[in-house]
Amino acid sequence: MTSIVNVGLGARSYDIHIGNGLIDQSAQLLGAMLGSRRPIIITDTHVAQAQLPRLQRALGGDSHALILPAGETTKSWQYLEQLTDELLDLGVERGDKLIALGGGVIGDLVGFAASIVKRGCGFIQVPTSLLAMVDSSVGGKTAINVRAGKNLIGSFHQPAMVMIDPSVLDTLPDRQMRAGYAEIVKYGLINDAHFFEWCESHAKQVLARNPEALTTAIAHSVRTKADIVAADERETKDQRALLNLGHTFGHALEADTGFSETLFHGEAVAAGMALAFGYSAASGRCAADAAVRVRAHLEAIGLPASLSAAHVKGTGTDLVAHMLHDKKMAGGTLPFILAQGIGQSYVDRTVQLAEIAKFLDGSRG
Ligand SMILES: NC(=O)c1ccc[n+]([C@@H]2O[C@H](COP(=O)([O-])OP(=O)(O)OC[C@H]3O[C@@H](n4cnc5c(N)ncnc54)[C@H](O)[C@@H]3O)[C@@H](O)[C@H]2O)c1
Repeated sequence: MTSIVNVGLGARSYDIHIGNGLIDQSAQLLGAMLGSRRPIIITDTHVAQAQLPRLQRALGGDSHALILPAGETTKSWQYLEQLTDELLDLGVERGDKLIALGGGVIGDLVGFAASIVKRGCGFIQVPTSLLAMVDSSVGGKTAINVRAGKNLIGSFHQPAMVMIDPSVLDTLPDRQMRAGYAEIVKYGLINDAHFFEWCESHAKQVLARNPEALTTAIAHSVRTKADIVAADERETKDQRALLNLGHTFGHALEADTGFSETLFHGEAVAAGMALAFGYSAASGRCAADAAVRVRAHLEAIGLPASLSAAHVKGTGTDLVAHMLHDKKMAGGTLPFILAQGIGQSYVDRTVQLAEIAKFLDGSRG
């Protein structure tokens, strides 16, 4: 069964198609968008091996495949330059729709390239990691990493379509599955306690790639994100900021571990959500049992939910110093996404960073 979720953004609206085996129907699904032009698929080395032949077979005929190295370092000036040069060499036109086949790294890089090449062409997201399916492929945030930090150069550029086929996750490593799952749990913790309960009872099936559980989890996540993006496309109100639950803490943990394989982004978000609930409870903003429940669920499925489980060595002061580089800093204060309970997250601008440092040191027990 295929679900279609619309992201309602006026002239920039688009559909997200979700269904097992969709990739094999790419010719029908993407045909009208690609027209008679030879499709240009951009992917990374891992996905090229695991999924590219399937997509190329489904599209039939000839397609160009541009294959970049796998990994976060590909979101860089160097590969942006290489990719845009290759696109121009191929004679890309403004009416073309590039196909981004990959995880968040490929989606973010191709989206950014599409937003600037010939002053903007179209692109289609075909996410292949769980994190990209439930989060990065939807919403139009594109970026590369630069010397000053992650995702600091980028644009808002919405895709023309998102095609999600959960069966491609068969080749995704289990640790990457768990990291993507953290972003699914996030949607329950933000504003939907029932969905968090669903996660508690279905996590194992989702991680075992049960098609029904996976499709339910992905469709729910995407619908929630689509609604938030439609209400606050450019994060100028508080709605879209809620999607950053766990990210301010998580960003500091990623910085402490050197943005390395030690701690994947989704794992940092998991530990960050546990810390956001832990701090909310410690400061009397939410009941202690909510924080205990969040941590227990994350730990039960093998996600890090504490500084030590995340392999973080820095002190509270070190971690707060990393937070000060966050691009959400405004007027000298950093908004934190905290919670009054499960499904009751909110933006709090009253948090004192010294308190956070003390809490983090105390949380080491
Ligand atoms: N734009 C946004 O709104 C947004 C939101 C969240 C995260 N992000 C960005 O997303 C990135 C992280 O995304 P990610 O976790 O997908 O990382 P990723 O793109 O590096 O993918 C993770 C790994 O899995 C491999 N892979 C992906 N799909 C596969 C498949 N089906 N089979 C086998 N291997 C596969 C990749 O080659 C890579 O090695 C970060 O750069 C982050 O900043 C962006």
